[in-house]
Amino acid sequence: MSKLLSQKFYEEMKKLEPRYPTKVALLLPALHEAQREYGWLPGEVMDEVAAYIGIHPAQVREVASFYTMYNLKPVGKYHLKICTNVACCLRGADELVEHCEKKFGIKCGETTPDKKFTLAEEECLGACGTAPAMMLNDDYHENLTPERLDQLLAGLR
Ligand code: FES
Repeated sequence: MSKLLSQKFYEEMKKLEPRYPTKVALLLPALHEAQREYGWLPGEVMDEVAAYIGIHPAQVREVASFYTMYNLKPVGKYHLKICTNVACCLRGADELVEHCEKKFGIKCGETTPDKKFTLAEEECLGACGTAPAMMLNDDYHENLTPERLDQLLAGLR
């Protein structure tokens, strides 16, 4: 089987290995690194991660499907993950979700036809003190309002 993951992936794993007590403990960072390469986790890529770690592919899928930060299907160039947990809801997260659904013409969990935006609801992002919070790809944005969100989106290419 030819490798789908890059040399960089394997070099990164070699660097991380000494920091973890077992190779299985590397699974979460390995999935992050694999997702960085593909933007999501295709089944064959998860199989390659399983082979590298030395566990059954089903175990990798169990973990990848448990955590919302792993994408099990392709996402758009900009992945908006709006926290809709308690603190964010109390400070307008539902309004932000509705605003985005209307603006993009999609529902949460969907991607715009041009593959530019994916919208998702997220569990607590740990930014409750500056709710409502959202992750745009890997970056946090907090104290959001529909207006601030529009400004942010207007700056994207
Ligand atoms: S509830 Fe939204 S960041 Fe904690």
